[in-house]
Amino acid sequence: MSSFIVIVVLAAVAGPLAGSAILPPAHTNQPAAALPRETIRFADGWSFQPTGAPATGRGGAVSTTDPLATEIGRQVLAIGGTAVDAAIAVAFGLAVVNPEAGNLGGGGFMVLRQADGTTHALDFREKAPLAAKRDMYLDAEGNLTEDSLVGHRAAGVPGTVMGLGAAHARFGTLPWKTLVQPAIMLADGFKMHPRLANSLLHHQSALTRFDGTRETFLPGGTAPREGDFFAQPALAATLRRIQDQGVEGFYRGATAALIVAEMERGGGIITAEDLTGYEAIWREPLTFTYRGHTITSMPPSSSGGATMALMANILEGYDLAEMGWGSAEAIHHYAEAARRAYADRNQVLADPDFVAIPLATMIAKDYARSRGKNIDPRRATPSAQVGPGLAVVRPEPTETTHFSIVDRWGNAVAITTTLNSAYGSLVTVAGAGFLLNNEMDDFAAKPGHPNQFGLVEGEQNAITPGKRMLSSMSPTIVDNPAGELFFVSGTPGGSTIITTVLQTVLHVIDFGMRVDQAVLAPRVHHQHLPDQIFWEPRGLESDVITRLEAMGHHLVERPEFSGDVQAIMRRSDGTLTAFSDPRKGGTAVVLP
Ligand code: GLY
Repeated sequence: MSSFIVIVVLAAVAGPLAGSAILPPAHTNQPAAALPRETIRFADGWSFQPTGAPATGRGGAVSTTDPLATEIGRQVLAIGGTAVDAAIAVAFGLAVVNPEAGNLGGGGFMVLRQADGTTHALDFREKAPLAAKRDMYLDAEGNLTEDSLVGHRAAGVPGTVMGLGAAHARFGTLPWKTLVQPAIMLADGFKMHPRLANSLLHHQSALTRFDGTRETFLPGGTAPREGDFFAQPALAATLRRIQDQGVEGFYRGATAALIVAEMERGGGIITAEDLTGYEAIWREPLTFTYRGHTITSMPPSSSGGATMALMANILEGYDLAEMGWGSAEAIHHYAEAARRAYADRNQVLADPDFVAIPLATMIAKDYARSRGKNIDPRRATPSAQVGPGLAVVRPEPTETTHFSIVDRWGNAVAITTTLNSAYGSLVTVAGAGFLLNNEMDDFAAKPGHPNQFGLVEGEQNAITPGKRMLSSMSPTIVDNPAGELFFVSGTPGGSTIITTVLQTVLHVIDFGMRVDQAVLAPRVHHQHLPDQIFWEPRGLESDVITRLEAMGHHLVERPEFSGDVQAIMRRSDGTLTAFSDPRKGGTAVVLP
């Protein structure tokens, strides 16, 4: 489907707003002025060198991982929708054009900053089904099975549709039907574009494991190629039920019956009671300060905000700008802060509705001072002296997705949403056309043993019926010291989400980078265990690696690039710049 059809559809359903549906051309990551910060130089051979300033405007900005989803967001803003309206439409659109991560059958988190500065956080994370058992992923010998990752038993109770419904009920200004409509049109069929064609080809073998998934995504037995017409009629029917009946069109009636039937067919445990009982929760946003800026992110059941707060509070005691971006000294202090923060994350964080967590302590400045005081400026502290255990990192799936939207009034939305691994559990609900998540693997299926991200978590995050599994998703909004909206950021990347988002924040606050530089810069990651600094291919100079190794760090070059940041920056005069991470090929637009 062409973007023109989306315009026509929006125009047809938007009533009086339709008059503004003929749109000026978008600005799409266009090069412009020369770099202002000549002092920031990325490693020789690094794949993502800045080419010039991204386009600017004041009419709103959208950054997502997929060009069709970005176009939906742009058009909702252009017909007068707010950032929340655009976010709802984009999220439904991603469920169609980004099935590896965008979803109806998964969950996520939304952080919202309204133009008046008030902030909100919405938790629509999946929950363990009521029939879930603590040891449900252990075999008779007590070893972990693959059931938390693949198949019907891997799925938690989906939260996305309830989350979007809750966001619309509280903050939506355009009709629900208008916001669901572009996704329906895309599900009725669109011309396959390179990003999704490549993804389907890459995951072709995994997508054959379950009949419904093979029939949906490999029509005729093979992955559709670029330019092929690709339709998802069962998904379109589900979206129409959601459009007509609201969240009830998913959690009750025909869609719920199809989910329960799929569970019965494949030995899954989600019931009608699980679906009718699901609730999204408005939580107190997690807020902390960093060098005079105010950072708003997600509280538990995500670990993102709290872990970033502890890292940032430790790092505030050091002059990173003086050390220099990309220097061995700056990376050393960053890794030492991450090592300590992740050790705490893995021990204490979990669903606050089920376990007590020392959140106030973890994000307090004085706790960070004591936690960081044994950082040796010249030597790495072995993780064995900071926390227990050993682990091996398996290749890290990055198939969560994040998008950032700011409207012309200054309302800002950051949403990170996921099925967990690429294409989730690999199970498509027959007749309903959407994939189910494999989020149950984000519980500590066997406390003290690594999950797919190599995270070694404790009893706090053990499986309990109705509990939300701990997440790393970190949708984040930053205010400048004057209390004005300054920066919106987020990314996929499993356990690396937290360090990726925080690095973009440090890039703009400590190193004065522009939004494109902050996203393009190579990133490093440490998560306590395994005791290693991971770095992106060709992202570090060899002398920096040598110096870090001399300090006692173990460095591991990742096989692939890490993350997919969608970022928007706002200057005090209201000018917006947006940049979509080229690591996955997304698109950012700014409205003039
Ligand atoms: N499934 C990735 C996360 O929630 O952290």
